[in-house]
Amino acid sequence: MKVSELLNLVDSLVPLEYAFEEDFVGITIGSEESEVKGIVIGHELDRSLLKFCIDKNINTVISYHPPSFKKIIEDDNTETMLPEIITKEFMDNSVNVITLHTAQDVCEGGNADTLVEIFNLKNTKNFAHTFGNFGAGRIGEINGLSNYGFKKLVENKLNTSSIRTNEYFDKLNEIKKIAILPGSGTQFIDEILEEVDVFVTGDISHRYLLKADDASMGLLQVGHITTEIPGMKKFVENLNKALNQELEYLYKDFYE
Ligand SMILES: [Fe+2]
Repeated sequence: MKVSELLNLVDSLVPLEYAFEEDFVGITIGSEESEVKGIVIGHELDRSLLKFCIDKNINTVISYHPPSFKKIIEDDNTETMLPEIITKEFMDNSVNVITLHTAQDVCEGGNADTLVEIFNLKNTKNFAHTFGNFGAGRIGEINGLSNYGFKKLVENKLNTSSIRTNEYFDKLNEIKKIAILPGSGTQFIDEILEEVDVFVTGDISHRYLLKADDASMGLLQVGHITTEIPGMKKFVENLNKALNQELEYLYKDFYE
């Protein structure tokens, strides 16, 4: 099978055209003409994934996060994208990479929909739209819980103990309506500020905690990949079914 054929199969499960406009998805390293010799799914390109590829003679990775590049602005204002060291190592080892990223967040049954399922959200609607009604975030209702009860629910459902909240979260008596966005979603906070009791996402910087305090909304931060892993596991299941294989999915559970 050529990389182009694998790309078509991936695209049928996770339509890449619905990713955010500037997102780096599809073949991010390598060539669609290359012959696939072994596939592995990796949450991101890191050294342990590269070692796995080399040890097992695998030349094709399906990654969730895109490879990292550094933007260099030259004297004449032209932009060059330079691969970061780890990206360069994948290139030097002739590994092909197909990246899903926000296409996997927004797609039917993807990362955001999986969170809806996990938290049993009712009356849901999408926010953080990419195209049409496709969006990376979900707003929905849960059976009312205390702030303590909700924190415990998140810990259990997402298999994490790494939780941080804003001050207002501690003052909430009952949580009934939440917003959730896989990965890091604070750039979309204005879309939901007046609408929910709590917003759950990753990588929340201090100024957003204060902003949510002032707007009387709870913020709950989990690890960045914690909200992305459950949906990715479903993708791996679907891909395994389609390929009739048992592919491995590698991520650093330290960050879960
Ligand atoms: Fe992410």
